[in-house]
Amino acid sequence: MPIKELIDLVSILAPVVNAGYPHIRGAVRSFCYTRRQDRILEFLGNLGTTTDHQIRRLVVDWERRQDVPLDETTLEQLCATLINLSHGAKFLTTQGTLRSSLIRSDKMIDLLLSQIETKLKKGDQIAPGHDWYVERFLGMGSFGEVWMGINQGYPESRAFKFFTQEDGKDWLLREQSNLSKIKQKLNDHPNVIQYLDVVTHCQYPFLALEYAGGGSLEDWILENRSDRVDLLISDAVRGLIDGIAEAHRWDICHRDLKPANIILTNAQNHPQIKITDFGLAKDFNERQQSNAGETISIGTPLYLPPEASTPGREVDGFRADVFAIGVIWFQLLTNSLERPPYDFAHRLRDHAADSHTIRVLTRCLASPEYRYANALELREDLSEIIPFRVDIPEGIIDVQHVFREYLSE
Ligand SMILES: Nc1ncnc2c1ncn2[C@@H]1O[C@H](COP(=O)(O)OP(=O)(O)OP(=O)(O)O)[C@@H](O)[C@H]1O
Ligand SMILES: [Mg+2]
Repeated sequence: MPIKELIDLVSILAPVVNAGYPHIRGAVRSFCYTRRQDRILEFLGNLGTTTDHQIRRLVVDWERRQDVPLDETTLEQLCATLINLSHGAKFLTTQGTLRSSLIRSDKMIDLLLSQIETKLKKGDQIAPGHDWYVERFLGMGSFGEVWMGINQGYPESRAFKFFTQEDGKDWLLREQSNLSKIKQKLNDHPNVIQYLDVVTHCQYPFLALEYAGGGSLEDWILENRSDRVDLLISDAVRGLIDGIAEAHRWDICHRDLKPANIILTNAQNHPQIKITDFGLAKDFNERQQSNAGETISIGTPLYLPPEASTPGREVDGFRADVFAIGVIWFQLLTNSLERPPYDFAHRLRDHAADSHTIRVLTRCLASPEYRYANALELREDLSEIIPFRVDIPEGIIDVQHVFREYLSE
């Protein structure tokens, strides 16, 4: 991201964040319209590859250089606005390239600005009678907004997912038994974010969740290599497969697996991965219907299997999860957020993937009849060749890939 442009935007937004969203929207519009169309599109493309962490760092550095410091609420609101703009830009672009359907920059800007308004502000109580207060904005999703919250009497923070859309409360009430099944069956798994509470009797109903402080896997992929924590890709993939296999064992499928729904714990070295948003995806078939004529309102199709875009075709949620695991695995190996191309096996070889990995990944991405039926089958196939979690002590060279190569021939 060209830092200078983002700093310009920060300087323009800082004085207006407290004046309300019409002013924020006006400021972003005039920031964009003083630039040529191709420069706006380039800027939005770049904004989409900027991580939450990079934005926070930039805002804090910018603020340090100011004569009059901003108060904490304004600072957080500034970060939240920029994070929302960048999440919106991620949604409209793929790795910095705009979706082909969005050629007009004014339409892009309108879409971007439609999703920046947070209903909560730093310091707000999560609901009357609760001792938790929202502290740090994490992002805006299809249901509403997610904040990290704190409580003076508790050492650990929590994540709160607020359902701010009109139909949010009805949806949450309808899904309560489904969510409690997920809580009952998956809460003990180390790779699944725990559901702690569902609260519906308040203005913005919410889910209280275990908080993982290491950012999303999406941001980890986008972050500069020198700035990011040491994550072992093999551990991340195994954690992902393990968590999803446990869900599949209980007949639960995720249906919305993507790197933004995989969060890292706060460890500096070898963080653990945690899967979130179990049970929160809309049904694929429902998705297709509401998607008619509206190509960008539901979400990125990057992780959906090809059968999900064939009208009228039933989509098996278990196989769809396996496909999404394949896409995420490919993205981790190639350090990109792309959908695997037809020649993905060549691409993986270029990234030194061994032939066993390529074979297993090919079955994840295959058409439904050749794909693993669920993550349990996938896990079994992986662990036949090499057992899960072989910890290599520091200082010892890891030669597991050589064995794997040998065994797969
Ligand atoms: N328990 C959690 N701990 C830490 N961060 C979280 C937690 N849950 C969600 N987040 C982060 O909050 C942000 C917003 O999440 P949210 O689920 O609302 O949006 P999304 O995953 O981008 O879209 P979708 O609505 O499709 O799920 C994401 O960046 C996500 O990584
Ligand atoms: Mg999510």
